Amino acid sequence: MSHVLLIEGLRANVGSKEILRGIDLEVNSGEVHVVMGPNGSGKSTLSHVIAGRPGYEVTGGKVTLDGLDLLTLPAWKRARAGLFLAMQYPIEVPGVSLVDALSAAFVSNGRPPALVPDLLAAEADRVGLDRRFLLRPLNVDLSGGERKRNETVQLGVIGPLFAVLDEIDSGLDVDALRAVARRIEGATAESGLGVLAITHYNRLLNELHADRIHVLIEGRIVASGGPELAEELETTGYAAYGVDEPVVVGAAVGAARLAGAAGAASGAGNGGRPGASAARTDLDPFADPFA
Ligand SMILES: Nc1ncnc2c1ncn2[C@@H]1O[C@H](COP(=O)(O)OP(=O)(O)O)[C@@H](O)[C@H]1O
Ligand SMILES: [Mg+2]
Repeated sequence: MSHVLLIEGLRANVGSKEILRGIDLEVNSGEVHVVMGPNGSGKSTLSHVIAGRPGYEVTGGKVTLDGLDLLTLPAWKRARAGLFLAMQYPIEVPGVSLVDALSAAFVSNGRPPALVPDLLAAEADRVGLDRRFLLRPLNVDLSGGERKRNETVQLGVIGPLFAVLDEIDSGLDVDALRAVARRIEGATAESGLGVLAITHYNRLLNELHADRIHVLIEGRIVASGGPELAEELETTGYAAYGVDEPVVVGAAVGAARLAGAAGAASGAGNGGRPGASAARTDLDPFADPFA
């Protein structure tokens, strides 16, 4: 059965500042959409608002999953409806094991939690995550790249209808990125997962086949197209959209450093955490671990 995640005229503020200024996107089952945008364009805000993270004020528009109004639901009910968010900076949750978290998700969906351990092991193997990491509390003592694989493992076990992936590529080396991309594409083919992958770097597009690419600048989608848009972005960067920032940067780590140095004044280093200031990134659990 085909499903649809529909975003219409979505507008949202953080405090008094308007970050999302009318976003329209339609993702159907089995489709991969990639939203690309420079630092501070509102990518994480978009993923947080869709997933229901507190701290944002939605001032207009709709987000529906098969017609169900997601914006009125708390995050866990959105998840139960079939939405999954892979966070840009997955946080450590000491005291809660991965298997407990996923078992709770299974129980809430009426699925037998006894299935979780075997599924977890199989999913870890698929993305090359060492099985011993499965025994740790959620994300505790995992590197940035391991966390991204861990997010992908959770995606594979839960099997949502739609996944919003916020910079799933950051911190991954090329082999890990390939494994993660293959797993995501596998889910689109095997179970019709619909994907909204949000990223800063077009290296993701080298590994993850996108049906549609959208360019997000200052809270608006200013261009949408097929895979040909990736080539255009590769040659011209965001300059065509009035943003003086290259799309292709050698390494994610270096780019994050550059962005942190250049973008501190705009809060680019705070990971979009509502209420957090760039100056406090050392205390911010959502701060960029690669900066
Ligand atoms: N808590 C906040 N207070 C003020 N501005 C914020 C806050 N969180 C995010 N912003 C601003 O919102 C804009 C978009 O942030 P974000 O969605 O994290 O961008 P991206 O993920 O594209 O880098 C940035 O200009 C950022 O500084
Ligand atoms: Mg972000």
